Amino acid sequence: MLRIEKLTKRFGDNTAVDTATLDVDKPCMIGIIGRSGAGKSTLLRMINRLTDASAGQILFHGREVTTLKGSEKRAWQADCAMIFQQFNLVPRMDVVSNVLHGTLNRHSTLATMFNLFPMEDIHRAIDILDRLGIAEHAPKRAEALSGGQQQRVAIARALMQDPKFILADEPIASLDPMNAQVVMQALRRIHEEDGRTVIANLHTLDTARRYCDRVVGMRDGRIVFDGLPEQLTTGVAREIYGADASFSEAATSTEIETLDANRKALMEAEATI
Ligand SMILES: Nc1ncnc2c1ncn2[C@@H]1O[C@H](COP(=O)(O)OP(=O)(O)OP(=O)(O)O)[C@@H](O)[C@H]1O
Ligand SMILES: [Mg+2]
Repeated sequence: MLRIEKLTKRFGDNTAVDTATLDVDKPCMIGIIGRSGAGKSTLLRMINRLTDASAGQILFHGREVTTLKGSEKRAWQADCAMIFQQFNLVPRMDVVSNVLHGTLNRHSTLATMFNLFPMEDIHRAIDILDRLGIAEHAPKRAEALSGGQQQRVAIARALMQDPKFILADEPIASLDPMNAQVVMQALRRIHEEDGRTVIANLHTLDTARRYCDRVVGMRDGRIVFDGLPEQLTTGVAREIYGADASFSEAATSTEIETLDANRKALMEAEATI
C-alpha cells in the first residue's frame, strides 16, 4: 500500500532522515518513537509533502508521491491529513467552521473566506464532532475548549478530508494524561472503525505500546527498530534512545523508569542482605 524507500532529508550537512525504509501493507496504527532530533517530524512531513525529500521514494500503490505537483500534490495531502501538537486551529473561529476548513481543498477560496459551506458539509462536520463526543461545542470558539477537546476538533477537521492516512506529530504532547488517553482512543477508533492508517510520533513508550500495532524506532535519522510492541524490550528501547543518562529523561517512558527503579531497589535490598 505505502512503501517508503531509502527516504533521506538533508539540511546542509545535517542528515535529518537517513535512508529510511518502511512498508505499510495494510491499514494499521504505527507509533514512531525516538529522542528529540531523531527525525520523526521530518519523516512525517516528507510523507505529507510539507517537506521535499533529498533522496529516496514514497510509493502509494506503486505511484511515486515525491514528485507530485499542483492539484495531484494537493490531492495527496488531502489523503494524508496531519495533526499537530499545537492543534493549529483558528482560535477565534467557532469549532464547526474550524472543522469545515478540512474541506478547503474542495472549495473555492472565496466560498471559504466567507464561510459559505454546503449544508451537506455542515451536517457531516456535526456528525464527525458527535462521533468524537464534542458536538455540543460546535458553536463555541475553538479557544474556549480544553486542549483535549481542541485536539479532537483538529481530528474532526482531518476527518472532513476523508483521508486514508492520519499523520499525527506528537498529538498528545501538550495534554494532561486524561485528555491524552481520550485523544489516543479517538485515533485508535478511527483506525479500527474506518480502516484508516494512523502514523503517530509519540514521546512515550507506554503510549506506543498501548495503542499501536507496530512501533518504529528512530535514532539519528535512521530507522533502528520496526516491530511489534511486545518486541520493544527495555534493551531495544535503550538502543533507540541511547544507553546513556539521557535515556532516563522523564519524557521517555515512565514504565522503563519504574523498571529501573525496581531493579535499583532490588539491588539495594540484595546489598543489605
Ligand atoms: N527546517 C529545518 N532546517 C534545518 N534543520 C532542521 C529543520 N527541521 C529539522 N531539522 C533538523 O533535523 C533533525 C531532525 O529534526 P526533527 O524535527 O525531524 O526531529 P524529531 O525527532 O521530530 O525531534 P523532536 O522529538 O524534538 O520533535 C534535527 O537535527 C533538526 O535540527
Ligand atoms: Mg518532532
